[in-house]
Amino acid sequence: MKLIGPFRQIVTLADLPLRGKINDEQLQIIENGGVLIHNNEIVNAGNFEELKELFLKENYESDIEVIDEDVVLLPAFTDCHTHICFGGNRAHDFAMRNAGKTYLEIAAAGGGIWSSVEHTRKATEEELLEGLLKRINFLLSLGITTIEIKSGYGLNETQELKMLRVIRQAQGLTPATLISTCLAAHMKPKDFVEDSDGSNSYLDYVLEEVLPKVKEENLSSRVDIFIEKSAFQPEESKIFLEKAKILGFDITAHADQFTPGSSRVAVEVGAKSADHLEATVDEDIAFLAASDTVAVALPGASLGLGEPFTPARKLLDAGAILAIASDWNPGSAPMGNLITQASILATYEKLSTAEVLAGITFRAAHALGLEDRGKIISGKKADFVAYKTDNYQNVLYMQGSISPCFVYINGKKY
Ligand code: NIG
Ligand code: FE
Repeated sequence: MKLIGPFRQIVTLADLPLRGKINDEQLQIIENGGVLIHNNEIVNAGNFEELKELFLKENYESDIEVIDEDVVLLPAFTDCHTHICFGGNRAHDFAMRNAGKTYLEIAAAGGGIWSSVEHTRKATEEELLEGLLKRINFLLSLGITTIEIKSGYGLNETQELKMLRVIRQAQGLTPATLISTCLAAHMKPKDFVEDSDGSNSYLDYVLEEVLPKVKEENLSSRVDIFIEKSAFQPEESKIFLEKAKILGFDITAHADQFTPGSSRVAVEVGAKSADHLEATVDEDIAFLAASDTVAVALPGASLGLGEPFTPARKLLDAGAILAIASDWNPGSAPMGNLITQASILATYEKLSTAEVLAGITFRAAHALGLEDRGKIISGKKADFVAYKTDNYQNVLYMQGSISPCFVYINGKKY
């Protein structure tokens, strides 16, 4: 048992709902707070002096971790959508896009997803692991202790498994929780030959050759697909996702990024989340909001591509479960700073502080099927992020330019 405090403020997120809009008046802030921890779990959060009095009846003064400056404590963050295992760099794509070049011109110049596939395939496991760990450490420095990571730059059995094995290796080397997702259906690889009658499609290959191996090696329990004109069409995607589900995988989808309609597919197959949604139309917002599929906004992709933001306000008002993730990848979302991105989304979409914090904590964890984290309440995982400031509002106000002074994982300070 350990008591930590006093914190100037603890933002517990207690009692906030899983879905829909939240007013800032609903945020419970404990002033001069303390948290009581046993092993990896929170036992209690409350007034520090009161907790101390109770605590010292059975424990020693030395089991109190004293915080002797103005520090605010929040639940640690979850980034529920990233592509941070990759080789190469697409700075040239970014420069060309900003200079007005089209998607096709960039692809013709050797850019686009396929160029990341080529670089990732060439990279050794050691090289991939090194880059991945650097990015994980950057996310940890932002207070993000739960990170979803997709494959999807391998696009054949050997290379997809290589990526997923590297993610698993990384899990042995970081205290963060890593959740891997198989995105072998990121695009149809240029070197895959389908039969002219449409049989032996790439998606069949993924279902028959790749996913069973992923299962066998226990490399991931989640399957993603990019449903878009340039990748996979809604009809074939629906069949693919239904079959992946029968194989026992949880489902998620890249939906409505440029073309509306595919979030419907995600909802119809019972996906855990539908991510992107920059192009989602009003009636599909209502459809999503009536479902249990988490709507994941990816402001980093809007900022990377100069595209509209996900209609987060409308989704929340309609009652959707809204999470916010970085989509960190070498192409469309190179920044990786989820806190900056979520703060910017809030200014454009008029989101309350409570809605943003919920979107990068317990709502994002829910998208990954993790109900054990994201609030500072009894029974949850003792993962926290702490800032040297006297007001929690500064975190979003500074738009990512203040860094945590420390991060706790399972009650241990980093
Ligand atoms: O989420 N939209 C598809 N996939 C990624 C982009 C990947 C890439 O460009 O490398 C995304 O934005
Ligand atoms: Fe993505």
